[in-house]
Amino acid sequence: MPQTQGQVVTVGVSGASGAILAQKALQLLDGDPRVARVHLVVTETGQRLFAEELGISSGDLKQLPSRILGRPAAKIEILPNTDVGASIASGSSEVDSMLVVPCSMGTLASIAGGISDDLVARAADVMLKEGRKLVLCVRDTPFSRIHLENMLRAQQAGAVIMPAIPAFYHQPRTIDDLVTQYICRVLAQIGLPQEKMYRWTGQGAAKKAEA
Ligand SMILES: Cc1cc2nc3c(=O)[nH]c(=O)nc-3n(C[C@H](O)[C@H](O)[C@H](O)COP(=O)(O)O)c2cc1C
Repeated sequence: MPQTQGQVVTVGVSGASGAILAQKALQLLDGDPRVARVHLVVTETGQRLFAEELGISSGDLKQLPSRILGRPAAKIEILPNTDVGASIASGSSEVDSMLVVPCSMGTLASIAGGISDDLVARAADVMLKEGRKLVLCVRDTPFSRIHLENMLRAQQAGAVIMPAIPAFYHQPRTIDDLVTQYICRVLAQIGLPQEKMYRWTGQGAAKKAEA
């Protein structure tokens, strides 16, 4: 069991649409006093998506966390995806939970198939074999039978499948409203419930939504 005070979280970012989801998760984790450290691993296509969707280029990889946050990163350490010998590639590492956000169908297939040929897939494999929390924010549409079978396989091995599907019951007005609610739900899955998260309260909330 990890000894560090505060959670140690790995965030894998793969090449599915939704770099803004990774950005929001990293902003909230970096600013969360309950979090001690964040290991960040971004696949090659994940880096491309940061550039294409958010205009954030990788350049010097070490500076990527600060560029993603738009401020100096206090707790985020970036690890090269090629380094399958990094600390998080071992079950002996102090990692409590891992998010893959967004999770491409390619990375999902690697995880579901146990193909640990890059650090994102290996770190996820470690979470499953150690019985620790792994949340896969899968994103594509529509899903093929292969995608669905891979999701089932990963879920049966212990992963939480959390498709990047926004909710609308909190009356979102902006993209940030959609993104924040979704990421708050993701962080709640790893034991980091957020004050910002809208909670459905039943009948009263329904009336408010109709108004
Ligand atoms: C602009 C762009 C958007 C993409 N969007 C998705 C997507 O939403 N879901 C997905 O599964 N793959 C998507 N892909 C394809 C993956 O990036 C591709 O399959 C890649 O090999 C995945 O590698 P990775 O999992 O190592 O990042 C996209 C690719 C590009 C360039």
